[in-house]
Amino acid sequence: MKKVLVIHGPNLNLLGTREVGTYGRFTLKQLNDLINKTAGDLGLSVSIEQHNAEGDIIESIHKAAEEEYDCIIINPGAYTHYSYAIRDAIRGVNLPAVEVHLSNIYYREEFRSKSVIAPVCAGQICGFGPESYLLGLHAAKGL
Ligand code: DQA
Repeated sequence: MKKVLVIHGPNLNLLGTREVGTYGRFTLKQLNDLINKTAGDLGLSVSIEQHNAEGDIIESIHKAAEEEYDCIIINPGAYTHYSYAIRDAIRGVNLPAVEVHLSNIYYREEFRSKSVIAPVCAGQICGFGPESYLLGLHAAKGL
């Protein structure tokens, strides 16, 4: 069974109350329940983490390699747009990664339209709300 690590980045713990016009009213717990259910349906073994700190995300990426995960699904939050350290971590561990976003990062402020993470990922899915993660699971299964 393929092992997938889902990493939620900064501020995603605030889902449900944070900028509901952009991110919706579902909570992180509801999102995680959906991820767990879909992973089960797809026959994937999934672990889910949320970290606000950049270093903790990097530790998680290293751990995914040490614990022989097959794929990472990551929503790096605002780190998407400037964290070369997270980018280097993904490239460094040599694990396939799928970048996901709830919102369409190309349809918002200019600074969000650049991802420094996408070039080291197998692909990027954005703009479909919680469905972005579920599409990410489908992608992970095929990788
Ligand atoms: C986000 C988009 C980022 O620009 C933002 O900083 C987030 C959430 C998304 O899922 O749409 O925190 O990654």
